[in-house]
Amino acid sequence: MLRTDLSDEVIISRIKEFLEQHPEGYDEDTKEFIERCALWGRNTSTTVSELDQIYNYLELDQEDNNIYRVFADLVESKFDINRPIYEIGGGNIPTVGKILALRQQKGTVTIYDPRLIFTKTDIPNLRLVKKPFTGEEIVESNALMIGYKPCDATMPMMKYIAKNDLDFMIALCDCAHGFLEIMDEDDINLWYQSCEWPVYIKYAEEERVKKSGQEIRRVKRLSMEKYDNPSPIIYNILDVKE
Ligand SMILES: C[S@@+](CC[C@H](N)C(=O)[O-])C[C@H]1O[C@@H](n2cnc3c(N)ncnc32)[C@H](O)[C@@H]1O
Repeated sequence: MLRTDLSDEVIISRIKEFLEQHPEGYDEDTKEFIERCALWGRNTSTTVSELDQIYNYLELDQEDNNIYRVFADLVESKFDINRPIYEIGGGNIPTVGKILALRQQKGTVTIYDPRLIFTKTDIPNLRLVKKPFTGEEIVESNALMIGYKPCDATMPMMKYIAKNDLDFMIALCDCAHGFLEIMDEDDINLWYQSCEWPVYIKYAEEERVKKSGQEIRRVKRLSMEKYDNPSPIIYNILDVKE
């Protein structure tokens, strides 16, 4: 949700100036769309990723109503962030990963996205990798993997997480990638479940072989509906068996 101390004219002109400074980041259609919808954030906390990222970068959001900050808070509320963190599908402009890097006392944040506009940063513990995450990469075994609406990166992430038993938190997107032909509400739920599936299978199998009393990690859900994001946030956590 946009700041109320800035006029519409100021917001529009800052966004236009940003787009002029970064012509490489946006094609003509996207640029035209962003300019036309520059004030969308007056009515909602969540617009489209490209615009939300610019709001965040230019500090146009109300401090307590910034979706990336809310997601970073959720990550921090469930996991120790002083460790290697990988954000996949970070966007054109670093958002969540940068917020977490600034909060870390130790550890690093590595952001993967082929669309990154910036690859240099003066934050020493932040690494910006302008490449897609393929699942062939090697990350530390104590790493935390996160994604805010990582779209096409969601399934490679989930498979990697399951294979390597990583901690994770992902805010799923509602565009049902992989299920393009079936977009009604029930099928959106199918998409959500299919994202959870690789991890669920892994833990269900582990459950069968583990002795009673051992720790099992399960996929849990959180909500950001309060911030106009209807899609679930999924994460894993240690459950102690009774
Ligand atoms: C909906 S956008 C979300 C961006 C950002 N997290 C946000 O919420 O503003 C999805 C992003 O995922 C990126 N992406 C898609 N596949 C990817 C992959 N295999 N590895 C890394 N990033 C990927 C796209 O380039 C795009 O920037």
